[in-house]
Amino acid sequence: MKILVDNVWYSYDGVTYALRNINIYLTEPGIYLITGPNGAGKTTLLKVISLLLKPTIGRILIEGVDYWNSSSVEKTRLKSTIIFVHDKPLLVRGSVEYNVSLGLKLKGLSSNDIIDYYIKRYNLSDVRNKSIYKLSAGQLKAASIIRALVLRPKLLALDEPFTFLDNTRVKLLIEDLLNLADKGSIVIVASHYIYRDLVEKCKGVIELFMGELLSLKIK
Ligand SMILES: Nc1ncnc2c1ncn2[C@@H]1O[C@H](COP(=O)(O)OP(=O)(O)OP(=O)(O)O)[C@@H](O)[C@H]1O
Ligand SMILES: [Mg+2]
Repeated sequence: MKILVDNVWYSYDGVTYALRNINIYLTEPGIYLITGPNGAGKTTLLKVISLLLKPTIGRILIEGVDYWNSSSVEKTRLKSTIIFVHDKPLLVRGSVEYNVSLGLKLKGLSSNDIIDYYIKRYNLSDVRNKSIYKLSAGQLKAASIIRALVLRPKLLALDEPFTFLDNTRVKLLIEDLLNLADKGSIVIVASHYIYRDLVEKCKGVIELFMGELLSLKIK
């Protein structure tokens, strides 16, 4: 998957800009980090790249296709290859298992093995049948992330994925993201936590400051 962020500006209120003149071209699979202080524009950029927010100015090309100027068939096709994991877990009423399997069911796939694998791996077996309203913050966060991992999207965007996760789960998640990238996906992580392990192994670092691209390092 290739992603071109072409002269992108984004304004929530039509007066001030949360993103200004952002130009990025991601051509290789790998993990890309978006860093920067609170309010720098990380979440906004991640949502623009994930096609959740339409740039006020500029274009986003995914595989050369200008999503916001494409047909509804093309829009549906592109959207189906992208998953955005919100910083605050967005789950539906029901058990952990129900939530983790929902994306696969919606795609007409049933793969109990992969669900079992991730539920065990993230130590959620004990809460597998528990309502998501009765989970700890870290369990809820892990459930919202594995719901995305089981789908193996071509573009996985995660906003502050490490919040609430303990060190063991952070390590597992970094491994799983690297694994997904090795299989050809682009993984974009917005975070103000800088894990040295992740910085060493990632393909690129996008540093934002006050809505502008402060630096772009691609290995
Ligand atoms: N829904 C919104 N409506 C209006 N302004 C917003 C909205 N969301 C974000 N902003 C503003 O846009 C700017 C960038 O916010 P954004 O959430 O992208 O930053 P961030 O780098 O993700 O910050 P954090 O580290 O706190 O998550 C900030 O000035 C913020 O106040
Ligand atoms: Mg944010």
